[in-house]
This record gives sequence, C-alpha cells and structure tokens, in this order.
Amino acid sequence: MRIGIVGGTGREGRGLAIRWARAGHTVSVGSRDAARAKEAAALLSQDAGVTIHGGDNAAIVSDAEVVLLSVPYGAHEATLQGLTTALAGKTLIDITVPLAPPKVREVSLPPGKSAALEAQAILGAGTRVVATLHHVSSVHLADLAHVVDCDVLVCGDDVPAREAVMGLVKDLGLRPIDAGPLKNAIALEALTPVLLYINKKYASPQGSGIRITGI
Ligand SMILES: NC(=O)c1ccc[n+]([C@@H]2O[C@H](COP(=O)([O-])OP(=O)(O)OC[C@H]3O[C@@H](n4cnc5c(N)ncnc54)[C@H](OP(=O)(O)O)[C@@H]3O)[C@@H](O)[C@H]2O)c1
Repeated sequence: MRIGIVGGTGREGRGLAIRWARAGHTVSVGSRDAARAKEAAALLSQDAGVTIHGGDNAAIVSDAEVVLLSVPYGAHEATLQGLTTALAGKTLIDITVPLAPPKVREVSLPPGKSAALEAQAILGAGTRVVATLHHVSSVHLADLAHVVDCDVLVCGDDVPAREAVMGLVKDLGLRPIDAGPLKNAIALEALTPVLLYINKKYASPQGSGIRITGI
C-alpha cells in the first residue's frame, strides 16, 4: 500500500515508517516543511536500509491510499482542517491521544469525547477514520530488533477499512484486536494516560503495553 504519515518526522511516525517500509509498503513521511520531511526520510532510509519518501503534508496525503495522522493533539484540528479535501475518499488512521499537559497521567476527554470522533466530524463521512496504536510506545517501534510485547486495539465504523488497518498493524509485527466502532476510541484514547501513570509508578523506561487475554 502507499502509506502517508502526516507528522512522520516525529517520534511515533519514524518507527511506523521504518516498520511499514520493511514490510514492503511504499511509505512517505510528511511535515509542515517539505525540506524537513525529505531530510528525515533520507536519514530513516539510510538507518533502516529501506527507501522512504518525504514531502509536505498535503503532497504526501495526495499520493497515499492510506494516511496516518501523527501530530500532537494540540495540532489535530488545524492539521485536519487543512487536509480535508485531500483526505476525501481515503482511510485515515488516527493515533492521537488527547493529552492535557502537564497532567498527562490523568484521563482528559476532549470536547468531542475523543480525537478520532472529532476527526470524523471534521472530515465527514467521505473519509473512513480508524483509530488505533494509542498504546504502543515510540521507543518500542523505533527499536527494530525488539519484539513489541503488546496487543493493538483497532476501532472504526467502516468494517472493511478497520480490517485493512488490522492488516497494516500485523505488518508492523504486532497483534491487532478488533475493538469495534469508532465510538470505542473514547476508551482506547483514555487508556493511554493510565499507561503513562503506570510507566512512572513501575519505572518502565520504554513504556508499558496492554495484552488481551481469553480470546
Ligand atoms: N510518542 C508515543 O509514544 C505515542 C504513542 C501512541 C500515540 N502517540 C500519538 O501520536 C501522535 C504523535 O506523537 P509523537 O510523540 O510522534 O509527537 P511529536 O514527535 O511531538 O510530533 C510529531 C510531529 O507533529 C508535527 N507537529 C508538531 N507540532 C505541530 C503543530 N503545531 N502543527 C502541525 N504539526 C505539528 C511535527 O512535524 P513537523 O514539525 O515536521 O511538521 C512533529 O514531528 C500524538 O497524537 C500522540 O498522542 C504517540
């Protein structure tokens, strides 16, 4: 698949880009600044022995079949507003956790109850929003030798899109779990501050994860 990562110059986007490129996908990292994206893409390509492309966010969205949004919650609405037309007819993977610094270890529901529900409201029914990867630390993703010991919950209202994203999660080397409709993103996003609390409480430098049992 042709995957575009908006904000792919950041912590979470870099590990995702490398892992998907290694799995055989055509990956582009996006930035507000095309030069920064090209520089990041060249470095990632060199480090991981793969070819990753770079461009400004609008350009990489236009070229992609599937787009992953990887910007901080504070930039979520404005970034989507600028990409609404380019995202029409595509699947958007939203990994945003609506943290409210400095209290990042406490659940904070945004006005629309979840970032993914807000994304769907901004983009309209013409874009299939799928929410996932809220519980996978960027430290784990960036370490290619590391087997990531956690499950990945995936939710979205469009069932074929949800299933396609589950396939992409598998391609990252992770186990996807179907977590139902997009409304369930409220719970998925809200769990991350709890994991951040657990990381501190139990001194987990690389980040805790979740595992679903009994299935
Ligand atoms: N880090 C994790 O472990 C983790 C885990 C699960 C989910 N997430 C979620 O993944 C998303 C990205 O996290 P991250 O840690 O990768 O974030 P990050 O490194 O802080 O930022 C990612 C990218 O977002 C862009 N960006 C920053 N501020 C922006 C703004 N005001 N407007 C537009 N773009 C902006 C930047 O790209 P340019 O400057 O190049 O445009 C930056 O490289 C967040 O929503 C987070 O909740 C993160």
